[in-house]
Amino acid sequence: MQTEILPALTGDNELNTESIDRAAALLRVGEVVGIPTETVYGLAANAFDEKAVAKIFKAKGRPQDNPLIVHISAFEEIRELVSAVPEAAKKLADAFWPGPLTIILPKSSRIPDAVSAGLPSVAVRMPSHSVARAVIARAGVPLAAPSANLSGSPSPTNAKTVFDDMQGRIPLILDGGGSRVGVESTVITLCTEVPRVLRPGGVTVEQLRAVLGAVEVDDAVLHQLKAGEKAASPGMKYKHYAPRADITIVRGSLAQFRQYVAEQAADAFVLCFAGEERYFPHAVPYGAAESDSEQANRLFDALRELDALGAKTVYARCPSLDGVGLAVYNRLIRAAGFHLIDLTEE
Ligand code: TXA
Ligand code: MG
Repeated sequence: MQTEILPALTGDNELNTESIDRAAALLRVGEVVGIPTETVYGLAANAFDEKAVAKIFKAKGRPQDNPLIVHISAFEEIRELVSAVPEAAKKLADAFWPGPLTIILPKSSRIPDAVSAGLPSVAVRMPSHSVARAVIARAGVPLAAPSANLSGSPSPTNAKTVFDDMQGRIPLILDGGGSRVGVESTVITLCTEVPRVLRPGGVTVEQLRAVLGAVEVDDAVLHQLKAGEKAASPGMKYKHYAPRADITIVRGSLAQFRQYVAEQAADAFVLCFAGEERYFPHAVPYGAAESDSEQANRLFDALRELDALGAKTVYARCPSLDGVGLAVYNRLIRAAGFHLIDLTEE
């Protein structure tokens, strides 16, 4: 299969309707299309078409027990997907949709088992990217879409990276520029007694609490599941976002970090904050120390860059756990296989 990349925006950021129409037509006949969203690029198919959804799993090499997020372009579309819309869902949608928040609710009978991976719930998101919204609306169906990477690789934040992973596997990728947020959406479930964050993302826990009151954070966000423990969000159990390099997160001041790295092998790479490159012979920066949104925006590209540079061993600066930093840390600790050295404890 030939994989085509089409520009989805014109020079002055207007929608390229020809490209959008082409994507929508492919989606209507059960094909899979790579589409931009504000978080990361997605691999989209008609959520009501079990055969189309099966093609997503095949293209990604995704385990069948990992459910997909269903994307909508207007709030009313959620009613077809879930068995009821509770007040909390309306509040969340009012505050954060369209945007980087996914809400899990009990599913309706219209959701194929392939989408929910057999769970009684479904994850729903209304993205804010103009191209994603236009494609959903034009296709006329909700779109199931995981991140557009091969299973286990970092999520793609631009069309070129989607092409690197999906070349020959899907017919079309829409190029809508770089993803603004850079990490996947926040996933919150309303199926628990107290709403619970299963995956941190662009909408912060602090923001969710301001709207809903009590919100729990699932243990799997920060910690590795113990053997035999069941993941509330199946995606959290896989070694994920992983580059080929062996990564260790090192928590401590810049001075502690520099001293630690100086004692390691000379060919080791560091994943540092912007501006710190000059202290290390082999360094890739992932955003300024004081900007969690810049770190989120840069992280996945930086991980892919480390692979491209042939890094074998990487020591990473530890982000703060506040705000969007929690999402950055959540992705980085998985990329590191939960390998963390804490120099502040000494
Ligand atoms: O930002 C995003 O969310 C991107 C863009 C494309 O929208 N999508 C994305 O999808 O990151 P994916 O498939 O890579 O991650 C979806 C996560 C997985 O961890 C999955 O296990 C979880 O959401 N999930 C989906 N449905 C669920 C459900 N019913 N219950 C619990 N977790 C669910
Ligand atoms: Mg993913």
